[in-house]
Amino acid sequence: MKDIRNIVILTGAGVSAESGIDTFRGGGGLWEQHRVEDVATPEAFARDPDLVLRFYDMRREAIQTKAPNAAHLALASLDREWPGELLIVTQNVDDLHERAGAQIGLNETRVLHMHGEHLNAWCMACDERSRWTGSLIDRPACPECGEAALRPDIVWFGEMPYRMDEIFEALERADLFVSIGTSGAVYPAAGFVRNAREFGAQTLELNLEPSQGTHWFDEARHGAATELVAAWVDEVLDR
Ligand code: OAD
Repeated sequence: MKDIRNIVILTGAGVSAESGIDTFRGGGGLWEQHRVEDVATPEAFARDPDLVLRFYDMRREAIQTKAPNAAHLALASLDREWPGELLIVTQNVDDLHERAGAQIGLNETRVLHMHGEHLNAWCMACDERSRWTGSLIDRPACPECGEAALRPDIVWFGEMPYRMDEIFEALERADLFVSIGTSGAVYPAAGFVRNAREFGAQTLELNLEPSQGTHWFDEARHGAATELVAAWVDEVLDR
């Protein structure tokens, strides 16, 4: 790994699967149990806010009972030890990357949540985001402005993912792009592999099974994230 200095890692639901958090697609996935149009669009929220708030209240409560797994911990150790630039772009809305790092000193600024965070509430009245661990169904007041106008800070279908400029800047500088635990079904994240290639980076997929874009990667390894990620981190750190 001598020529590698800057790394961008994209993670998806597969990295948290072994922590007991449901993935979205495939057998038993969240989108098999719920229709996206019912719970994950701005139109759904306008039509039936109680249904949407209840759905995210349940998810917010559930993630707080889960713990980071060996894949999160390995990435946190890479963050701590990697001498070059590193950005972990996650599509996940749980806080397991941060909690893995909190135990061993992860610099939080290296984790970027492009699809939002369960543990934030976003006020539609004042546009502020507040740390939120409780429920939203009873329409609590925004801690900033006092209005009862909080929504989950989740990027819904039809909304723009967060911090795309920062992500593209990092992809432009990347020598290596690694995609972990994501099906490659949702853009723009699914297109990052092609962007990274165009910018000249090497590309690696670590996923349980071939993703939809698996042929775009220079190399793909298939298996459980807890095993693959820990082994790859050892390799990249020359341990
Ligand atoms: P998906 O559920 O689409 O894909 C999860 C991927 O992880 C699949 O390819 C699985 O094979 C793989 N996987 C499952 N268990 C694994 C394990 N133990 N180790 C390694 N890989 C494993 O989830 P995402 O790709 O993250 O968006 O979904 C992308 C976006 O679609 C999500 O961020 C969410 C969803 O709609 C929003 O909510 C905005």
